[in-house]
Amino acid sequence: MEKTTTIGFIGAGNMAFALISGLRSSGFPVKNIKVSDKDAVLLSQRKTELGIEIFTDNMQLARQSDVIVFAVKPQILSTVCQELQPHINHQPLMISIVAGVKSTSINRWLGGDASIVRAMPNTPALLGVGATGMMTNDAVSKEQKALTEQILSSVGACFWVKDEDMIDAVTALSGSGPAYFFLMIESMTKAGVALGLDEKIAEKLSIQTALGASMMASQSNDSSNELRAKVTSKNGTTQAAIESFQTQNFESVVSHAMRAAFDRAKKIGFELDDNA
Ligand SMILES: NC(=O)c1ccc[n+]([C@@H]2O[C@H](COP(=O)([O-])OP(=O)(O)OC[C@H]3O[C@@H](n4cnc5c(N)ncnc54)[C@H](OP(=O)(O)O)[C@@H]3O)[C@@H](O)[C@H]2O)c1
Repeated sequence: MEKTTTIGFIGAGNMAFALISGLRSSGFPVKNIKVSDKDAVLLSQRKTELGIEIFTDNMQLARQSDVIVFAVKPQILSTVCQELQPHINHQPLMISIVAGVKSTSINRWLGGDASIVRAMPNTPALLGVGATGMMTNDAVSKEQKALTEQILSSVGACFWVKDEDMIDAVTALSGSGPAYFFLMIESMTKAGVALGLDEKIAEKLSIQTALGASMMASQSNDSSNELRAKVTSKNGTTQAAIESFQTQNFESVVSHAMRAAFDRAKKIGFELDDNA
């Protein structure tokens, strides 16, 4: 990425904070990161936390940015894009991290011919261990694709997916996924307390176990299925727990939950597509 590339974030909320923190930690020059939001109090907090330039006017930010990252809620995006349309003659790369909203809708709101990437990161980007799925529309050049990879790989692992439907699948898996693991930690903590453990100790054991299992899965050549088999001795305690999970159809519970997230992402896209 050129040292002079300027990235402007529209929306200074949780995800923008995670991505900007990751970019900063990866050595991206702070002076080339800008953010706009309608909340002046949040903006001044971001300026203090991150040392970046802040704007209350999205148009002013857009005119000064080579890459514009949309980090607002889905319902706001159409207004934001339509206001921006007269201010993007310099043809910046548009990266939308907004759940559900289709690239065709974004392109139409921007007046057509925009280079658009849809990306779905997740909040561990804050710590540089995010997971992101990405796709482009036809207007995105090879150089812009490489630039996107450079930006998003600075906050974790990223993968190109073949079409827009797969962005909704990524949303259901890794976009919303951290919350599934938080729920597992919460449930294991409560179950540990029910078995007599002190709550603080149960919580710390749950968190450390999630971290350890995740590190093992990411560093081992074995599949997660093989790793599970290795720690499940015949007639042992783990087997008793796994059999209980399976009797209660754990796989189906997970599959239904992810299908609900996928369907919700599709519905958001459909509801906000004024051409649908
Ligand atoms: N959180 C996640 O884990 C996650 C993961 C992947 C993708 N995403 C996507 O990322 C996007 C942002 O999520 P988030 O969690 O960061 O939301 P958020 O914390 O609510 O941040 C959005 C920010 O945009 C501001 N805003 C509203 N209208 C605006 C406008 N016209 N111009 C500029 N800024 C405006 C909001 O201000 P007000 O609050 O005052 O309205 C808020 O500060 C969403 O579309 C979501 O689908 C989120």
